[in-house]
Amino acid sequence: MTTSILILGGYGYAGRLLARHLLAESDAGLVLAGRNAEKAQSLTAQLNAEFAGDRVAGIRADAADSESLRRAFCGIDLVLVAATTVQHTERVARAALEAGIDYLDIQYSPKRVPVLQSLADEICRAGRCFITEAGFHPGLPAAMVRYVAPHFSHLDTAIVGSVLNPEGGLPSAESVDELIEAFKDYQGQVFKDGRWQTAGSFDVRAIDFGAEFGRRSCYSMFLEEMRSLPDTYPSLNTTGFYVAGFNWFVDYLLTPVIMLSLKLWPERAVRPMGRLLVWGTQKFASPPYGVLLKIEATGEKDGKPLKVEASAFHSDGYEFTAIPVVACLLQYLDGSIKRPGLWMMGHLVDPARLFGDMERMGITVATKVVH
Ligand SMILES: NC(=O)c1ccc[n+]([C@@H]2O[C@H](COP(=O)([O-])OP(=O)(O)OC[C@H]3O[C@@H](n4cnc5c(N)ncnc54)[C@H](OP(=O)(O)O)[C@@H]3O)[C@@H](O)[C@H]2O)c1
Repeated sequence: MTTSILILGGYGYAGRLLARHLLAESDAGLVLAGRNAEKAQSLTAQLNAEFAGDRVAGIRADAADSESLRRAFCGIDLVLVAATTVQHTERVARAALEAGIDYLDIQYSPKRVPVLQSLADEICRAGRCFITEAGFHPGLPAAMVRYVAPHFSHLDTAIVGSVLNPEGGLPSAESVDELIEAFKDYQGQVFKDGRWQTAGSFDVRAIDFGAEFGRRSCYSMFLEEMRSLPDTYPSLNTTGFYVAGFNWFVDYLLTPVIMLSLKLWPERAVRPMGRLLVWGTQKFASPPYGVLLKIEATGEKDGKPLKVEASAFHSDGYEFTAIPVVACLLQYLDGSIKRPGLWMMGHLVDPARLFGDMERMGITVATKVVH
């Protein structure tokens, strides 16, 4: 029997790419959902014309309305949350539990993690598989550490950095509000000298992103998926996730303005600052474009020092989000990671298979081992 996946936010920037890759890579049936039935049905018609088998349907569903979710989840096996609905996380998760379906979210905001963690026992008892922190970031950084770790008998440091420079800048999507909210809740602690730095601290480090992107100054960004890595790899002394800035205007002029505005008007400033950020990334965008994620790991293999660098690149940031999620879902769909509980994508997936599938789907993956 084929799996039926409802994509909440199915006609958004991320949702529509998830739909395309799922149709190309699996035999799953899809339901595209959001608050606008017309948009859902218009994309449904396009996709059914492009992919054989009439595998897509489009419906109206509102994450703010439990009854609407109950109706939408009828006959579904998994809800894929690609909607800007972090504030409705508990409602969506509870509706999924009541309907007896699995769950995967790709949202950027860390706010939903404690909400889902508070439901972890219920999820386990219900025998459901809930996957959170899926996508590029969150999603790939922990997977990348696990991807290179087998090269080492003793993993000492694992630094993951990313550059995001979309051609034409960020699109004016609702999800930009989530990025602005993230400025408010910014956490930058890293794991250094064998312990997590205190919340509120941050780190700046230069990372060499190779011939095209060059050496960039990067700021640390705490991701929940990185927290347990030192438990998984007890030899790990230093790890963290870092991001490079967008461009000189956004980094040096706009960011302080955004920070100050959010301090003065925490709620009212979100929308206008989001618009300003989009404008700044569009107006001052300059090549090279694309998204690059890179890990630099050091340690030992059989008593000898070893350094491993791996990178993943795509010219389009949304492709770089959708492809890892679909690569993860391929492991879910064949049952290999479909286990009861609440999981983070980066911890649950088989990383070698994930990066292999991502490469097949259009992401450039490279690994360099230096003995
Ligand atoms: N993990 C990662 O690497 C990564 C990368 C990029 C994006 N993301 C996340 O992906 C999500 C989507 O981003 P995006 O850029 O694709 O956003 P977007 O283009 O603005 O799309 C948002 C979608 O959510 C739907 N939506 C909003 N409110 C809803 C509600 N109450 N009920 C049902 N649907 C609702 C919208 O449709 P209607 O407004 O018509 O309802 C739209 O289809 C965001 O949470 C973002 O943080 C994650």
